[in-house]
Amino acid sequence: MPSAHSSSPGAVTVRAPAKINLGLRVGPRQADGFHPLASVFHAIDRYDYITVSSAASLSISATTELPLGPSNLVWQAAVAVAQEAGLAPAVHIRIDKQIPVAGGMAGGSADAAATLLACSRLWGLDLPIARLRELAAGLGSDVPFALHGGTALGLGRGDQLTGVACPGRFAWVVMPADQGLSTPRVYAELDRRRPVGPVPTAAAVDAVVEAVSRADPVALADALCNDLQEPALSLRPELASLLATGRRAGALGALISGSGPTCVFLHRSVEHAAEAARLLPGSFVAEGPADGATVL
Ligand code: C5P
Repeated sequence: MPSAHSSSPGAVTVRAPAKINLGLRVGPRQADGFHPLASVFHAIDRYDYITVSSAASLSISATTELPLGPSNLVWQAAVAVAQEAGLAPAVHIRIDKQIPVAGGMAGGSADAAATLLACSRLWGLDLPIARLRELAAGLGSDVPFALHGGTALGLGRGDQLTGVACPGRFAWVVMPADQGLSTPRVYAELDRRRPVGPVPTAAAVDAVVEAVSRADPVALADALCNDLQEPALSLRPELASLLATGRRAGALGALISGSGPTCVFLHRSVEHAAEAARLLPGSFVAEGPADGATVL
């Protein structure tokens, strides 16, 4: 029997995962306005679902309130694939959102990655993964990782990816916030507080990669780091007490995901995570690593 999210005739459904940054070191703003990163991305099993179907013209619908025009990355993704094939982008894109919006979990990037793959499949193009990755990087810094999934080291803008083998699973409590935080605003706050600094290399997140490779949650908790955490906390001071509450609930480690405001808590097992989640109303339990964008 097809699941609630499987593809149907004339339509293609793709799911793509949320990400958290296990380590995020950020260098100074460059002339292009972006910041050089060394990031360890980790996909978790909370997904958005994108369904594309043939239509007279390009349109979007969504289960939550989102921009439904050209500013939405899924629109730009469909146009990018159509241009590649010399086709008109005549599709309807339905977004079933399960990833917190503007939460620092790259939900919009997940939707874009899923749309690239879905349009490629719907139009029978089956673009090579290397080309999809290039199109993904043109859409946003986190889009290539949403295609890739798993755990990966990201350099450059975060789009130059190398997979990190992860022989175990990590259990997380994820606490979304009611109101999103603007990523450019958090980067600008970092620049204000720390205008100069070194360009980070892979060595800056070595301890994270090492802990992941050993599937060691205690070592990982120790190594978790995020240069955007202090700027995000200065814009949302109330998140500090949330991090403390999560730690008191038994987390091995706690941090803000990416530019925030979502907070994530690492636990030694899914059972521990489920117990702790009961103390944080509105939170959910997730495990990683999870697969990247996948046709259902
Ligand atoms: O690439 P993306 O569109 O996701 O980036 C959103 C914003 O985040 C950028 O406009 C920029 O302000 C900031 N950013 C950055 N350096 C990065 C990634 C994102 O400054 N490496």
